[in-house]
Amino acid sequence: MTIEDYQRAVDQFESIRQWWSAQDETDQNEATTRFRLIDDLLTRVLEWPPEHIVCEDSLGRTFADYVLGSPTRRVVVEAKREGVNFAIPLTAESGVMSLRDARRFSPELAAAIDQVARYATDRGIAVAVATNGHQFVAFLASRQDGVAPADGKALLFSSLDAVSSQFALFWECLSRGGVEANALARVLAASPPPPPPAKLSTRLRLYPGFRTRNRLQTDLKVLGDLFLTDYLAAPEIEELFLRECYSTSDTLSEYATVSREVLEARYSAAQDADGAELQAARGTDAINPELARDVLTASLGRRPLILLGDVGVGKTTFIRHFIRIDARELMERSIVLHINFGDEPALASDLNAYVIDRLQEQLADAGFDLEDDKLLRQVYSHDLNRLTRGIYGGLRKSDPKAYALRELGLLEKKLAEPDKHLQAMLRHIAKSKKQQIIIFLDNIDQRDFEFQEEVFLIGQSLAATWPATVFLSLRPETFNRSRVHGSLTAYQPRIFTIAPPAAKTVIDKRLAFSIAQLGVASESEVIPPTLEAQAAALTTYLGILRNSFSINNELIEAVDNLGGGNLRATLDFVNTFVGSGHVDTVKIFGIHADDGRYRVALHEFLRALLFGDYEHYSPAASPIPNLLDISSDDGREHFIVPLILAHVERIGEVGSHDGYVDVHDIHDAMQGMGFRVEQIESALERAVNGKLLSHQPRAAPTDSRRLYRITTVGAYLWTKLLGRFTYLDAMIVDTPIVDPSRRREIKDCRAIADRLDRAEIFQKYLDDCWDPIWAEGQAFDWMSASTSLQRDVGTIRRSIKLNNL
Ligand SMILES: Nc1ncnc2c1ncn2[C@@H]1O[C@H](COP(=O)(O)OP(=O)(O)OP(=O)(O)O)[C@@H](O)[C@H]1O
Ligand SMILES: [Mg+2]
Repeated sequence: MTIEDYQRAVDQFESIRQWWSAQDETDQNEATTRFRLIDDLLTRVLEWPPEHIVCEDSLGRTFADYVLGSPTRRVVVEAKREGVNFAIPLTAESGVMSLRDARRFSPELAAAIDQVARYATDRGIAVAVATNGHQFVAFLASRQDGVAPADGKALLFSSLDAVSSQFALFWECLSRGGVEANALARVLAASPPPPPPAKLSTRLRLYPGFRTRNRLQTDLKVLGDLFLTDYLAAPEIEELFLRECYSTSDTLSEYATVSREVLEARYSAAQDADGAELQAARGTDAINPELARDVLTASLGRRPLILLGDVGVGKTTFIRHFIRIDARELMERSIVLHINFGDEPALASDLNAYVIDRLQEQLADAGFDLEDDKLLRQVYSHDLNRLTRGIYGGLRKSDPKAYALRELGLLEKKLAEPDKHLQAMLRHIAKSKKQQIIIFLDNIDQRDFEFQEEVFLIGQSLAATWPATVFLSLRPETFNRSRVHGSLTAYQPRIFTIAPPAAKTVIDKRLAFSIAQLGVASESEVIPPTLEAQAAALTTYLGILRNSFSINNELIEAVDNLGGGNLRATLDFVNTFVGSGHVDTVKIFGIHADDGRYRVALHEFLRALLFGDYEHYSPAASPIPNLLDISSDDGREHFIVPLILAHVERIGEVGSHDGYVDVHDIHDAMQGMGFRVEQIESALERAVNGKLLSHQPRAAPTDSRRLYRITTVGAYLWTKLLGRFTYLDAMIVDTPIVDPSRRREIKDCRAIADRLDRAEIFQKYLDDCWDPIWAEGQAFDWMSASTSLQRDVGTIRRSIKLNNL
C-alpha cells in the first residue's frame, strides 16, 4: 500500500464520517442507513472489493454477518441492525484492551462478541469484528494467533471520532492489505507465556545415546531382521508366505481400549461425504462376492475400484493375496498388471509415459512382446487390409518390396504412439485370448498429492477407455482429499474397505512362519555354518516370544492398541523386541534353559519399544509418546493431554458422530479448567502428532470444522500406561519439571533402586501439580494413575528384595 492509498482512505473515511454525523438520530438508528455506513466503510475505506464480501443478512435476526476475503476468508464482521447500542462509553479508551473487559460494557456487546467469535472459529476465520456501524471491537478468534476469545485482547473503537483520531491503527488492522499482513495479530500480541524449564535430557552429556548391544543381542538383531522381515518378502516363497501368514477376521479386536462404535466407524467419513457405499473387501474365508462380480464387470462400468484402508492395514498384502490366492483362477485367466508406486525410487517426470512403459514391460513378461511382428500384424490386420484396398494395393504384386516398406511404415506409425498402441494390444489380447485385463495401481498415496492426482487421472482414463479393470488402493484421507479436490469425481467409484485382522493372529502366524523358515534355511544351508548356533538361538527366542504372546494377554493388548490397526507398526514392535539392547536376553535364555519356559512380561516388552536403539527415551524415536510434556511453565499442563484424551473419549462415546468431538467442546472443557488457548492448541498438536487423537478428514473444501477422535493408542496410553513405573521412568528425561527444588532432586541414574526413588519424587511432584485442577467427576483422574504407580513401585521393590535374599 502506498501513501496515496492511505491518504485516499483517510479522505473517504472523513467524508463518510461527515455524512453520518449529518444524519439525525432516527436515521442513524435505521437499519438501511447503518448497513450503508458499514458497506461504505468496508469497500471505500478499508478497500475490500465488493466481490470479496459475502453478506449473510438473515431476516428476522438482529444482525448480519459479512465474510471478507476471497478465496481465503479472512474476516467475519457481525453487524448489528438498528437501535442496538453497544453502550461503549464515549470516554472509554479506544485501542487495545482485554476482551473480557470489552465484554463487560454491555450485554448486547458481549452477545455480539460471543456470536462472532463462534461464527469465526466455526469457519476457521482468524479475525472477528463486532460493530454497530460506528463502534468496533476487533479480535482474533482462531488458533493461528493463539489468542482466545475469552482471555485474549481486543482492539476497540468507541466512535467514528475515535476511529478518526486513531485512523492509522484502524486502517492498519482492518483494511484488506493490513488483514492480509496479519497486522491485528501483531497489535494484539499478548506476551507469550513463559516457556517451560529445560528437560533433564538437555542436561545429559549423551542424549539419547546409542545403546550398545551385547553379542547375543546383536546376533538376534541381525538374524531377526532377516527372518522377521526381508527374507519373508522373497518372491520364491511369496505364495507360501501368503498362505501361512495371511489373516482375516471380521470381528473387532477384543483387546481394543476404545469403544466398539469408534472401531466400527473406522471408515465412516469416506461414506458420509456423498453417500458412497462402503463394503468390506473380504470376509473371513473369501473375498466379497460383490467385489468378485465387480472385477468381472467393472471394465464395463468404466470406473476404478477403490481399495480403501488406513496406513499399514494390509492393502498391498490384500492385493498380493487376491492375485495369488483368493482370485487365483480368475487371475490365471487374466492379464494382471501391477504398478507398485511405493517401490519405484524416483519417478520419471512424464508419468503417463512411465505407466505405459511399466505396463508394456509387464505384458512382455507375460509373453506379449508389443513389438512382435506377428502379433503386430494380428492387432492391426484391419489397417493392413485397408492398405491392400488402398492406392498402394497394386504394389503388392508389382513391387512386393515397396509394398512391404509401406506396411512397415504403417506399423511404425502405430508403434510411435505408445498409449494407443498399448490400448490396441490390450483390446486384441482381451478379445482373442478371452482374457481379462486387470490393473492394480498401488501405494500411490505414499507419494505427494500432485503425483497422486496425476495417477488418479491416468487410472480413471484407463478404466474409462481401456478394456481393463482398474484397482486403486487408497487411504481414507487421500480418498477424501481427492474427492474434495475434484480429482476423483468423474465416476462414483465402488469402494471396498480393508479392515485390519487381529494383531494376535497376525503375530502368531508370522512368528510360526519365521520359525519354520529358520528351520528350512538351516537345512538348506542358506545360513552359513558359522551362524548356525545363532539361528538355533533365534528359533528358541522366537518360540519364547510366540508362547508369551499366546499366554500373556497384556502383550497382545499392548501391540494391538499401540499399533492401532497398522500391522506394519505392530509387526515392527515384535522386531524391535527381538535383539533389543534393553532386554535381558541372557536372563531369558537362562530361565528358559532351567525351567523349559519363559514368559515375557509387559514391562520387558515396553522397554524395547520405549527406548528402541537408544539409551534414553527420545520422543522422536519412540512409537510411544510422552503424555506429560508441557508447552509453558505451568505444572498443571502435565495433565492436559490425558484430560483431553479422557474428555474426547467420554464425549465421543455418547455423541452421535462416530466418536468425533468438536474442537469447541474441547476448548470449552479445558478453558473451564483454566487452561489457556495456547496450551490447549499445543496439547492437541502433540496428541495428533503422537497419534493419540485422529482428525476427521474434511468432507468438503468449505468444511473448516475441526473434529477429533480418540485412537487406541491414546486410550491405551492414558488408561493403561500412565500408571506404570516403566512408562514414567522413561518419561522423566523428557518432562520439564517446573518446581525448582524437585528439579534439583531428579537426576540421571541407572541402578533400579535409584530409579525407583526418582520415580517416587516424580510422582509426588505430579501429585502436587494435580492438586489445583482436581475436581469431582472429571473423566481423567491423575490420582488413580498415581496410586497404581505407587503399587507398581512397591511390587518392584519387594521383588528386588526377594531376589537379593
Ligand atoms: N491380512 C494380513 N495378515 C497378515 N499380515 C498382514 C496382513 N495384511 C498385511 N499384513 C502385513 O502387514 C504389513 C503391512 O501391510 P501392507 O504393506 O499390505 O499395508 P498397506 O495397507 O499396503 O500399507 P500402506 O498404507 O503403507 O500402503 C506387512 O508386513 C504385511 O505383511
Ligand atoms: Mg501398500
